[in-house]
Amino acid sequence: MTTNPIIIDCDPGVDDAIALLLAFASAELDVLGITTVAGNVPLSLTQTNARKICELAGRSTMRVYAGCPRPMLRSLETAEYAHGTTGLQGTELPEPTMPLQAQHGVDFLIETLMQSDGDITLATLGPLTNLAIALIKAPQITPKIREVVMMGGAITHGNVTPLAEFNIYVDPHAAQVVFSSTLKLTIISLDVTHQVLTTPDRLEKIRSIGTPVSQAAADLLAFYGSYDIEKYGMPGSPLHDPCVIAYLIQPDLFTGREFFVDVETTSDRTIGCTIVDLWQLTGKSPNVNVIQTVNVEKFYELLIDRLSRYV
Ligand code: BDR
Ligand code: CA
Repeated sequence: MTTNPIIIDCDPGVDDAIALLLAFASAELDVLGITTVAGNVPLSLTQTNARKICELAGRSTMRVYAGCPRPMLRSLETAEYAHGTTGLQGTELPEPTMPLQAQHGVDFLIETLMQSDGDITLATLGPLTNLAIALIKAPQITPKIREVVMMGGAITHGNVTPLAEFNIYVDPHAAQVVFSSTLKLTIISLDVTHQVLTTPDRLEKIRSIGTPVSQAAADLLAFYGSYDIEKYGMPGSPLHDPCVIAYLIQPDLFTGREFFVDVETTSDRTIGCTIVDLWQLTGKSPNVNVIQTVNVEKFYELLIDRLSRYV
């Protein structure tokens, strides 16, 4: 089995937390470090939450970095309505004792990529501010990034506005920097993640693993699901960010196609929406592998199998 080196850029966030647990339990991935960004909750909480999850997973030697505290141009909009005031509502995890790294997250990205052989994949689970700033500060990292796999965007419906998905909406200018780069990009949008729902029976399967990790995961997901159940009438919460990690572990659970994708940065009504040129109407060359389908049953089999590996 080959092990792929990855850096996870995230804003934990309940679904980010589940994504981290999935990654840490998967030998296919070598997590080199975690960079955090302001998103679901402010940066002070996302970096603390990332360390809490590392300690929950028994990974207290993992390096966690704080990145950008706000989007490039817009003021920060957060999502406590879905993740709670702490960002990890539903369970009480102890304050972390492992240190936050002194280096800025953007500088860690640049330094690590520049020292690499070009084999590192970036998994982005939050607004794209850290990656965009890294690309602006050090454009020479572009050929050093093997691939970016992101949770972001919406083809048919948004979750912040009718058209915009949260990660892109929070920092659309950063998203535009990333989408207009020459990076190899794969996006997993709401159209896919809204199929991957933590229904009551799936939640029960996670809980019945019976370990501290599975209990914490189930408690987090029970709180997180209550928002989607109430607001959208869904049977459970969409596991957005874990889809990125599942794709990196087992890409054959997903199918996708290359399209040209642009980001709206100016219109008040549609800011942050991803414009996917499904019919090649712009005549522009495809720049993104847009994931279109997911094998939901096998996704949950994978997640439950990996969560069962914690003792
Ligand atoms: C994305 O926004 C955040 O609330 C989630 O963590 C996920 O990354 C879904 O739109
Ligand atoms: Ca996230």
